[in-house]
Amino acid sequence: MSGIEEKLRQIEEEASKAINSAEGMERLKEIRVSVLGKKGSLTSVLKSMKDVAPEDRPKVGKWVNDARERIETYMDETRARLEGAMLLSQLESEAIDVTLPAKKQKIGHVHPNTIALDEVERIFIGMGYEVIEGPEIEYDDYNFTKLNIPPNHPAKDEQDTFYITDEILLRTQTSPVQARIMEKGKLPIRMIAPGRVFRSDEVDATHSPSFHQIEGLVIDKGITFADLKGTLEVFAKELFGEETRTKFRPHHFPFTEPSAEMDVSCFKCGGKGCRFCKGEGWIEILGCGMVHPHVLEMCGLDPEEYGGFAFGVGLERIALLKYEIDDMRLLYDNDIRFLSQF
Ligand code: DAH
Repeated sequence: MSGIEEKLRQIEEEASKAINSAEGMERLKEIRVSVLGKKGSLTSVLKSMKDVAPEDRPKVGKWVNDARERIETYMDETRARLEGAMLLSQLESEAIDVTLPAKKQKIGHVHPNTIALDEVERIFIGMGYEVIEGPEIEYDDYNFTKLNIPPNHPAKDEQDTFYITDEILLRTQTSPVQARIMEKGKLPIRMIAPGRVFRSDEVDATHSPSFHQIEGLVIDKGITFADLKGTLEVFAKELFGEETRTKFRPHHFPFTEPSAEMDVSCFKCGGKGCRFCKGEGWIEILGCGMVHPHVLEMCGLDPEEYGGFAFGVGLERIALLKYEIDDMRLLYDNDIRFLSQF
């Protein structure tokens, strides 16, 4: 009898000590199993009841139950204490100091090319043009043949053009979009086609193997060179200012006849000649011309009935001019300190 009482006291004391030093819920669970579980120390005392004299069993039973109750209560209290402490430390570690200055969200900046393109698109959309895109990987047929560029033309040289196969290449100009849209046969056409083009050029201040052009095409009945001049003059004035004057110089492009290059009066000096226009007073801005009858035919249109004009502008050239940037490479460095100036 007294042996059992002593044993219970010992179990209770050990359990209390263990509970006391438990640092987490896992440990508490282990202690519960080792004391109160099926094979636990306290349960084993109950199992040994058969050795206790029958008249003593109620008393021993009460001792065991009382000890169990005390241990459980102590465990519950300890669990509550540990949970409280855990919550407190979590609250402390996750506390938000609302007085701290907010973290600055660093957002990017619209690229000068994109600003310039948006501006060009706005001008032409205002004149009723559609904006259309064509593929950057193009057939030789669209990039050259259908634009009246013969097989022996120097532009077709591998020195200048990135070929993928004999028939497939990276487009060297946005002009193939002209052929693609004419072939669809939905008339009249009034479109611009901006996009990336590729040429096998070394990188320097004015060249890059990849740059952007904006193609323009108008096809309808009765379109004349006066429409071309008028349209491009409006474009130049909107882009560079109302006082801008334009000048058309004869030029050659295989897919237009006649062809011209358009210069604008220098928007820095107004045409007097300065460092910006290299003393010329004029700045070359685009190529243009009346669509060649042979091109119309190859694209399924009757040159007796339909005609039109086309033009091609370098997007980087516009961005460099408009924002007075003197090195094209700056446009491709993606240095946010440079980009955020525009
Ligand atoms: N595709 C020409 C180039 O890359 C630019 C050009 C000139 C486009 C005259 C045209 C045009 O549509 O009519 O040099």
